[in-house]
Amino acid sequence: PDAPPRPDAVDPLYPDLEAEFTVSVSAFSYLISVLGGTGFIGSHVAKRLKEETSSHVIAADQYAPMPGHLPLEAICDEFIQCDLRVKSNMERALRGCQEAFLFAADMGGMGYLAGNDFEVASWNIQITISFASVCIAERIEKVFFASSACVYPEPLQKHGHAFKLAEDSAWPADPQDGYGLEKLFSERMLEYSSNETSTSIRIARFHNIFGPNGTWYGGREKAPAAFLRKFACLRELQFLKPHKYLQDHKNELIIWGTGGQRRSFCYITDAVDAVLLLMNSDVTKPVNIGSDRDVSILDLSHLCEESFRLAQSTGAEVPIEEPRLQRFHDTEGPIGVDCRSSDNKFIKETLGWEPLTSLEDGLNQTAVFIVEQHRLLKKNVLKSHSMEDWIRFNQQGVFSTHVLQTRGPVT
Ligand code: NAD
Ligand code: GDD
Repeated sequence: PDAPPRPDAVDPLYPDLEAEFTVSVSAFSYLISVLGGTGFIGSHVAKRLKEETSSHVIAADQYAPMPGHLPLEAICDEFIQCDLRVKSNMERALRGCQEAFLFAADMGGMGYLAGNDFEVASWNIQITISFASVCIAERIEKVFFASSACVYPEPLQKHGHAFKLAEDSAWPADPQDGYGLEKLFSERMLEYSSNETSTSIRIARFHNIFGPNGTWYGGREKAPAAFLRKFACLRELQFLKPHKYLQDHKNELIIWGTGGQRRSFCYITDAVDAVLLLMNSDVTKPVNIGSDRDVSILDLSHLCEESFRLAQSTGAEVPIEEPRLQRFHDTEGPIGVDCRSSDNKFIKETLGWEPLTSLEDGLNQTAVFIVEQHRLLKKNVLKSHSMEDWIRFNQQGVFSTHVLQTRGPVT
């Protein structure tokens, strides 16, 4: 039985999108299940598993991929569309598997997590409990859990602290919000299950992962994708300026907070390398997967502006107006912790991993993706919606104030 859909589960552009995809599986196949397999990190991991192993890869998710995300043929041999909070669905997704990756979670940037603690924590704990109990019952050999840098104590992430977060600083606990508390509890619960059964556990604490195929509009997007989208939308509004609705258009980028907050950002291909190294290692303690190069959010906005200019210079109808965009600081916006970066000493020592892609190169790749998706979205929206809807989207980054989509791109 599927649980009823969430209010935000329906993309207004694709209300009926579902997928059926399966190929036959022999009794001798090595089965790997990727839960949350059509999401951002999950789909990139599943794609690498499909490309690089001879295993039968199952992807399970509440949503089929939207056009513009990695297609099912690229990521899996079998797709199961279901709500993984429901134990019988989890059983279906894990039956006969030797390995399982848990990426499914209610997830977003600060614009989504702030003030949404109950919704997020209660949704995610249901998934993890269902996951842990089925892994034990099915005697899954090895499981991967996607945890977060949000498990670290908030007081360590204030301005003035040496805020590179090492794995052993997570306890005593004082994590960020309901999202971080759930992740920390789930880590510990999975460790207990591993101590008491034959299941072996791998835990990654991701620090702001970005790149193509990540959420870029709808309210859940994180800072890099949000800024790149805002640039694409500002350019579009400049283009539409003569329109009667746009007389009060302000040519400025809105940044939440002073921009003095600091974060580190890790490109998706590097993160996937680390996930696969970790899974194939014997490291059972939680491990940071992130970059240790922190930048201020204001600097990030300048890097995004450069990447956007580069990406749109190839296909743009209208260049962004000079002089350069102004910044407007929305001090009421959700800010999260002051400063956060990854301490990579442990992962370097144990797995020999460090990120290879510079922030600039990663942003350039992401900008190309978002510029292209923005162009395709316009084509699609104008087929079925009004120009007013399109203008509102470019002003607000959502189609309706009541819809927080997990997905976006269209062809
Ligand atoms: P995402 O939102 O792109 O992917 C999550 C996927 O889980 C989505 O496809 C969603 O549909 C699916 N899902 C959610 N609830 C479900 C349910 N009940 N049943 C079935 N599917 C469900 O997010 P992501 O960025 O790929 O994150 C993957 C994991 O990594 C999450 O656990 C997240 O908390 C963690 N993480 C990510 C980051 C990051 O920067 N991306 C940072 C820290 C932690
Ligand atoms: N999303 C977003 N959008 N953030 C903005 C914006 C904007 O338009 N303007 C400024 N910011 C600032 C936020 O206020 C925050 O201080 C910083 O940019 C980073 O915000 P996010 O990228 O949304 O999230 P985060 O880094 O605080 O937390 C994310 O990373 C964690 C792992 O490190 C979240 O995605 C968590 O879910 C994740 O676990």
